[in-house]
Amino acid sequence: LSDAPAPDALVALLAALRAEGYAFTTVTPATHERVAARRAEGRTLRDVFGWSLPFAEGAIPQLYVDLLRAAGALRRCGALLKSELRVSSLHGGLFLHSAFPTTGPDAVFFGPDTSRYADLLLGELPGLPPPRRIVDVGAGSGAGGILAAKAVPGAALTLCDINRAALHLAAANAAFAGVEAELVQGSGLDAVSGAVDLVIANPPFLMDADKRAYRDGGDMLGARLSLDWALAAAARLEPGGHMILYTGVAICDGQDGLRAALERNLPRLGCALRYREIDPDIFGEELDRPAYAEVERIAAIGAVIAKAARA
Ligand SMILES: C[S@@+](CC[C@H](N)C(=O)[O-])C[C@H]1O[C@@H](n2cnc3c(N)ncnc32)[C@H](O)[C@@H]1O
Repeated sequence: LSDAPAPDALVALLAALRAEGYAFTTVTPATHERVAARRAEGRTLRDVFGWSLPFAEGAIPQLYVDLLRAAGALRRCGALLKSELRVSSLHGGLFLHSAFPTTGPDAVFFGPDTSRYADLLLGELPGLPPPRRIVDVGAGSGAGGILAAKAVPGAALTLCDINRAALHLAAANAAFAGVEAELVQGSGLDAVSGAVDLVIANPPFLMDADKRAYRDGGDMLGARLSLDWALAAAARLEPGGHMILYTGVAICDGQDGLRAALERNLPRLGCALRYREIDPDIFGEELDRPAYAEVERIAAIGAVIAKAARA
């Protein structure tokens, strides 16, 4: 995949939107549903590429329809058309991801978690030794890795994901941002070869009834992938290397199972842990689901894992 060409129509679409001064902040699915339900048809670029509303031919300049068609991302929706892609702004960049609703098994994720993840990365990076290589595991649209690479000029960037559709959009997002990226399809760090001195990740962390790859975090109340990726990174990091982990944790009876498991396991891998809650209460609507019957809240957390430097 490393030599997959950047899809030209997608890069051209981002460039056209940038030239229009397009900006859109992606909200939670619950908020999106409420806001988008206010009207049936899109009339502006933000309606089409932000709110994912169907639109009539002629509602937006033909250039965008042609570019979507060339990218294979335009679909008929009754008498109307619909973009299969959304475009969101974050820290001055524009990023392609899947249109709402993201019900497909290979939907490409981007949401408020992406913003919190990027904020964590940009807040932590200045305090760490400059990495030679950044590996974004479960990169999705690539936003986290791309923004991190822009903040650390000179670092090589690897974007890895199990979802091929995600890597396709990540390639376009990286090309548009002017960032060179190696694209790797595989699970966790398994398919990433070579030395690694900075791993970053925003893994799936929910208990998803539909087991969608961008949402389902596995057992441990959804924390399994977060723990597995953190321990795999801890084992793999070069001496003096780091992992920056953003994730969500289901808190039961005041207990954070991910934090306890990291504190138990990291010392034997030669790693220290800094861990903090970023937001005490996210995705509150999930608590209505049966899987969350014992969960009192979902907290967004940020962790920095530091591998001991060589003596
Ligand atoms: C919550 S999304 C985060 C995407 C992106 N990092 C962001 O912050 O917007 C989690 C991502 O992990 C990917 N993923 C899920 N299971 C994976 C696995 N076993 N190995 C690699 N990536 C995986 C999904 O395809 C998805 O892109």
